[in-house]
Amino acid sequence: MKDIKSLVDLIGNTPIVQAKNIDAGKCNLFLKMENMNPGSSIKDRVALQIINDAEKNGDLVKGSTVVEATAGNTGLGLALIALLKGYKAKVIILDKMNQNKIFHLKSLGAEVMLAKSDVGPDSPEHYVNMAKRVAAETDNSFMANQFTNKSNPLAHELTTAPEIYNQMDGDVDAIVCGVGTGGTISGIGKFFEKNNPKTEMVLADPEGSIVKDAVEKKPLKEADYKWLVEGIGEDFLPDTLDLKYIKKAYSVSNEEAFQTIRTLALKEGILGGSSSGTLICAALKYCHEQKEKKNVVTFVCDNGEKYLNTAYNSEWLKEKNLI
Ligand SMILES: Cc1ncc(COP(=O)(O)O)c(C=O)c1O
Repeated sequence: MKDIKSLVDLIGNTPIVQAKNIDAGKCNLFLKMENMNPGSSIKDRVALQIINDAEKNGDLVKGSTVVEATAGNTGLGLALIALLKGYKAKVIILDKMNQNKIFHLKSLGAEVMLAKSDVGPDSPEHYVNMAKRVAAETDNSFMANQFTNKSNPLAHELTTAPEIYNQMDGDVDAIVCGVGTGGTISGIGKFFEKNNPKTEMVLADPEGSIVKDAVEKKPLKEADYKWLVEGIGEDFLPDTLDLKYIKKAYSVSNEEAFQTIRTLALKEGILGGSSSGTLICAALKYCHEQKEKKNVVTFVCDNGEKYLNTAYNSEWLKEKNLI
């Protein structure tokens, strides 16, 4: 009988498809299908790297509880891997995230706590501060700490980036990423700086987030928490974000993001998560500015099924004035 793998072995090695039915001007637009990871997002890679490294360092031992602050997907990756490796998981998730993520987390046996979405990083109610408190109050806890843990960008430097490089035969001009922790853009940026410095890292930032201003070295305002896409957009600059790799930044409105994922579904048959709308919209802005053909890669970061009740639901879209 063929070797039957654990789901953990199926993390990464996601395919890339070309978006051939969407007008990308002179460019070729490619999508890395991170929604096809077993926990259904790009964050499975980060969760696996964090857990493997913590096991090696002795930070994670038998009976440990993994604690994390998350927009949901890192929590889902951690909960899945914790389950398969025999750990417990406690997840502190922002209250504006989709209910389906909470159902999914609970189905994997994780304990879920809600944190306010509209409080700043100095507030004790901020989700990261809440997670630190929960970790301190939990025996034998290990806080994954995706916002400071170097295993996060390392996951992308070691897996996501070389996969893109190999899948594109090294011929990639730009990679468009969102920033939640900055792990994706910084890890991939580090790999490409060494292996193909002509590749530009491009930021897709939701309107209201502070990261684009930071890239453009403008004075930082407080975040305006109006963005509705999940997983990207930030109100502080995490340690795992290295701005030096980012060459260009685009801001994307709610209207543009949600219109773009519906276009993605209708033209390419891909049901992407809400952030895919921001990423693909920014990638298309970049593509339409190019005067010559370029190969541009971006991501379907997570699966749209968890957003069927919001991003793909006309009642919700009307309520939010998005159609
Ligand atoms: C849903 C989702 N989560 C996370 C990320 C990336 O976040 P990070 O900056 O934490 O690597 C993305 C990026 O595009 C995303 O779409």
